[in-house]
Amino acid sequence: MRVNGKIAVITGANSGMGKASARMLAEKGYHVVMLVRNRERGKEALEELEKAFPGSFQMILCDLSDGDSVRAAAEEISRKCSGLDILLNNAGLITTKRQLNEVGLEMQFAVNHVGHFILTLTLLPLMREGARIVQVASGAHKWGEIHFDDLTLEKNFRPFKAYGQSKLANVLFAEALSGRLKPHGITVNSCHPGAVGTNMGVNRETGFGRGIMSLLKPFFRTPEEGADTAVFLATDPSVEKVTGAYFYNRKPMAVAKKAQDRELSEKLWRWTEEFTGVSFKEMEKNMGNSSVRN
Ligand SMILES: NC(=O)c1ccc[n+]([C@@H]2O[C@H](COP(=O)([O-])OP(=O)(O)OC[C@H]3O[C@@H](n4cnc5c(N)ncnc54)[C@H](OP(=O)(O)O)[C@@H]3O)[C@@H](O)[C@H]2O)c1
Repeated sequence: MRVNGKIAVITGANSGMGKASARMLAEKGYHVVMLVRNRERGKEALEELEKAFPGSFQMILCDLSDGDSVRAAAEEISRKCSGLDILLNNAGLITTKRQLNEVGLEMQFAVNHVGHFILTLTLLPLMREGARIVQVASGAHKWGEIHFDDLTLEKNFRPFKAYGQSKLANVLFAEALSGRLKPHGITVNSCHPGAVGTNMGVNRETGFGRGIMSLLKPFFRTPEEGADTAVFLATDPSVEKVTGAYFYNRKPMAVAKKAQDRELSEKLWRWTEEFTGVSFKEMEKNMGNSSVRN
């Protein structure tokens, strides 16, 4: 069955702010496509959400560290959905040890930036005029650098160096994409959710980090509070035309100087297009075929 109506796709929708956003968007009447990397964790979240809003969700597997999985997910979304109104690029991870994906990319850069780049560009033909793309970035972009001479951080890996690199890439990507999508009437913004009590940093296999997170939770925002700005950017009429901005607490905020560096964002854009083989120009040729917003 092909889904009609208002449709939102959320990455990392089984946990933390992704799950909160899924609930909040269903409450606003969206059909929510939950992209998850793990079937069991995804099913658990889907069942929980379905109890509150029956029939409002579907789950599709998508491992953002694996380009083939991302492409397959985008194809499945295109087959199942009549169009796309919101893409919420929310998934993210931080790893304490240096990990590489199948094609040798550092894992945080692979998931937080490259996977979302492939997903976003391959979904462009499905997007309706007026669609909104929201990239959940982080204030951590401020300490990030894009280490073009050592993108995999082989020489000197540190978790926050890798996380900062990937989150700076998020902000640069959102800005570069916003300019390209302006003529198509699609907005792109990024945001910082604040410090939020989620499963960020918790090892999914060993549970390591869960204890520290539960100690910190009382001082942190709830996932719903953390998701508020992303959902605001995705739905509020007051920001319908706003694009290329970075928000915190529902307000535009200045990004770090390096995140405003157009040469840097274009260099990263070219690198990512070349590495992934996904070209904006090619995707753009197929835009504008989706049905108008209903
Ligand atoms: N929490 C904070 O204080 C904070 C602050 C600033 C920014 N952020 C950003 O907020 C976003 C949401 O994070 P959160 O705090 O809600 O953390 P979370 O509870 O850990 O959720 C992260 C989500 O990303 C998914 N994910 C991880 N690796 C993936 C992969 N390879 N493919 C697909 N999905 C993957 C996770 O799936 P699994 O559950 O299956 O692992 C999970 O659904 C992230 O982009 C994060 O960088 C968080």
